[in-house]
Amino acid sequence: MKIMVIGLGYVGSVVAAGLASEGNQVTGVDIDLDKIKSLRENIVMIKEPGLQDMIVQASGSGNLVFSHTSEIDFIRDPVIFVCVDTPYLQNAGCDVSQVYNTIEWIKQKVEVQQPILVMKSTVVPGTGEKIIQNYLCTEGDGISYVMNPEFLREGQALWDWAHPDRTVIGSNDENAIKTISSLYSKIEAPFVITDVTTAEMIKYAANAYLATRISFINEIAMLCERFNADIDIVARGMGLDQRIGLSYLRAGIGYGGSCFPKDTRALHDICNRNGIDFELLDAVISINNKQCNSAINKLKDKLGSLQRRRIAVLGLSFKPDTDDVRESPALKIIRLLYEEGADITAYDPLAIENAAGQLPADIKYTDKALNAVDNAHAVLVVTAWREFVDMDWATVKSLMSDPYVVIDGRNCLDYTYLRKLGFYYSGFGRK
Ligand code: UGA
Repeated sequence: MKIMVIGLGYVGSVVAAGLASEGNQVTGVDIDLDKIKSLRENIVMIKEPGLQDMIVQASGSGNLVFSHTSEIDFIRDPVIFVCVDTPYLQNAGCDVSQVYNTIEWIKQKVEVQQPILVMKSTVVPGTGEKIIQNYLCTEGDGISYVMNPEFLREGQALWDWAHPDRTVIGSNDENAIKTISSLYSKIEAPFVITDVTTAEMIKYAANAYLATRISFINEIAMLCERFNADIDIVARGMGLDQRIGLSYLRAGIGYGGSCFPKDTRALHDICNRNGIDFELLDAVISINNKQCNSAINKLKDKLGSLQRRRIAVLGLSFKPDTDDVRESPALKIIRLLYEEGADITAYDPLAIENAAGQLPADIKYTDKALNAVDNAHAVLVVTAWREFVDMDWATVKSLMSDPYVVIDGRNCLDYTYLRKLGFYYSGFGRK
């Protein structure tokens, strides 16, 4: 099938490469000319494991080409995926201006009978119906609308693309549902076929629920600290109950990234605007907001004042296997440490460039984790990169200064071993 994918960010790049590698003829379109030029040279600016190879292969087979918006005179692809950003704006909620601009552009360019517009961007419930009424229902346009939310985790997006737990397709148009379902027919996963607004709600409900699990386990971790219980064992003991499950029960400094913080706030925002009191969601957000402060307090418990204390921050991205620092707890923690007068050295395998632009100029960065910990009073592990888990912690100990503090913001280190080595170790809710 001929498909256009508009917006080549984290989601659009994976969607374009995924559809092309399944044999469709895909044109990836973006308004950023530099991005298009790089992609044409097989340079993928996004750091997503496996994506570069997939794009190289799909481009090589001729199934994937890239175009700048200015190069498109008309659209003759019967299926058009919209994967543009919908950022959260303070006090204004989910900003859909890029979605509307894209739809206006599609309407001007489209020259095919009854094309299908597939919305991958996350939009708040009710948006699709507004788009249908205000933008697509004008006479002669005949554009069908489908809401097809994505459930791609950064760092594992290619796996998630090929092995989704479900495919959600929301539309009022039977033919569009058939066509879009057929695109996913090679992927083994149950379909949830529904209307547009329900599909939008599924996306928000899923992200808000996952965020809720994280805030819930973080509160249980706090109780574990108080009553001397162990959160790892509590999470396992809970999660082995099939009604609960083991995932998203890792306690620590909380969720970050471009999705959970934005989506929980946007949902909170539409509730407010509609006079709905979603108390549980308010609690989820405020619990998450306090997790980074909790990490700082753990440091202070051992070090007292942080003034001029040498602190190594390991990890800048919001999670491992990505260079994405959007809403990364690392940035918040570094700013808090900075306000306390700490002397900060940071390291991340991929995200230094992205983080440095957003942090005070006198933060130091190193190109190796061991250089960051050299002479440090404390190490704060903020992102659970495998590299930090597997690090030679005996060497770390030999490089650091007394009192050898390790704050494990992701509960990812072997604390029995670290304590044996002589570290003062503190995680979240770990004994
Ligand atoms: C999330 C969802 O998992 C995807 O299904 C969804 O498609 C995506 O948002 C989106 O809306 O586009 P993502 O933000 O890439 O994906 O990352 P996650 O792996 O879900 O992690 C989010 C944050 O929660 C990270 O900061 C992670 O460290 C944290 N987390 C995750 C925990 O603190 N504890 C856990 O147990 C799990």
